[in-house]
Amino acid sequence: MSGSDGPGTSDTSDASGTPSAADGSEASSPGPSGSALPFHLLPETAAVDGDGQLTIGGCNLLDLAAEFGTPLFVYDETHLRNRCREAVAAFGDGATYATKAFLCTAMAELVHSEGMRLDVATLGELHVARHAGVPGHRMIMHGNNKSMVELRAAAEAGLHRIVVDCFEEIDRLAALAAEGLKVPSILLRVTPGVEAHTHEFIRTGQDDSKFGFGLRSGDARRAVEWANEAAGVELVGLHCHIGSQVFRAESFFEAVEVMAPFVNECGLPELSLGGGLGVAYVEGEESLGIAAWSAAIRKAAVTHGITAELGIEPGRAIAAAAAVTLYEVGVIKKIPGIRTYVAVDGGMSDNPRPVLYGSGYETFLPRAVAAERSERVRVVGKHCESGDLLVAEGSVPADLVVGDILATPVTGAYGHSMGSNYQKVLRPPVVFVADGQVRQVVRRETLDDLVARDG
Ligand code: LLP
Repeated sequence: MSGSDGPGTSDTSDASGTPSAADGSEASSPGPSGSALPFHLLPETAAVDGDGQLTIGGCNLLDLAAEFGTPLFVYDETHLRNRCREAVAAFGDGATYATKAFLCTAMAELVHSEGMRLDVATLGELHVARHAGVPGHRMIMHGNNKSMVELRAAAEAGLHRIVVDCFEEIDRLAALAAEGLKVPSILLRVTPGVEAHTHEFIRTGQDDSKFGFGLRSGDARRAVEWANEAAGVELVGLHCHIGSQVFRAESFFEAVEVMAPFVNECGLPELSLGGGLGVAYVEGEESLGIAAWSAAIRKAAVTHGITAELGIEPGRAIAAAAAVTLYEVGVIKKIPGIRTYVAVDGGMSDNPRPVLYGSGYETFLPRAVAAERSERVRVVGKHCESGDLLVAEGSVPADLVVGDILATPVTGAYGHSMGSNYQKVLRPPVVFVADGQVRQVVRRETLDDLVARDG
């Protein structure tokens, strides 16, 4: 079930996209109390069974919680595959998945099998992708401070491209070439001086940025000359990425408009416009979707006379809405006249986004997915910090009890990947579901894992 098919869907936001809060930060509260969960926030194959319980990929979520324990990340494989297919349909070989959003061996295999390239930004991400059997020529490398070790590994693995972020990297690549290594062709990451409407921590296109070569400062032009003079380094294109969780198509248009004169002047054959497409997390938000975003980017490029071959690097738009996280409710603490706290068995260790960015999430009970959610609560984790919250202003059905399985949707990106084992909380497993089958693709961390690295 998707979008408007589902009961309780009440999204009325402007499809052209609006930022999730007036100040460009992320929204932190869901829709009006009392409404049922907006179904368009659930993965594509979500359905309600005869008992009113939620299934994904034909698997009952309560059964999954019983089998694998909680917290548990449940990914809809069909959803992941369909998002990859949209990106590939729009950009072919120019469609690259930003693995930082969510990566494990099975995810690397899935993305590769769907024909997307993989963007790896650390030696670790490169290792996981290679472990999954992704050939070097299906990967590109990012990062604002790539080490010699990372660049050497990228060259030895025969990566398709390296997106160079700074002058030092050009020199490092030239040094590798001087050793006789074949260095992958490069794109230069340009900072266009565009302020994307999103949280300041995930804006990357403004002049004041640690990323890339500034267009306005003249660094971008100097970098082109520098790269052209570096022996053994082949410059084939430019790149820009203005930020993440960007809802407004206008921000992307602006980036294309600002980049166009430089791109056309350089006459290089490739241009990657990065990732950043915003995804709906709470009621009232609606994403442009990969197809519309891609079409908008292409149109803007044509309008500005760009003939370079275009690429994109979505991460969140591929993975975020594919997953839900399941928790068990351990405590319900009512403070009269103040609020009700619902404590679950995870927290900032499996989803640090609410703490880091003030990100909003919805919450619901898989046992009664279409139920009205009349009670306002704060869903918190089990960590010893008052800031450890998952849903600052959540709504739950009035009959919530200790022991209930409670879920948060849209947790597929930057949750598992940014998770930690703070306070030695064991990192949750990940399961992929499809066609009534479940496969565990990441097991739960064990107590032995916690001491495996101790001397
Ligand atoms: N390309 C580059 C060069 C990037 O730095 C990123 C994300 C992407 C592509 C993918 O962006 P996406 O399509 O996922 O928006 N932890 C933050 C997001 C950080 C994004 C970092 N770079 C969050 O949870 O919101």
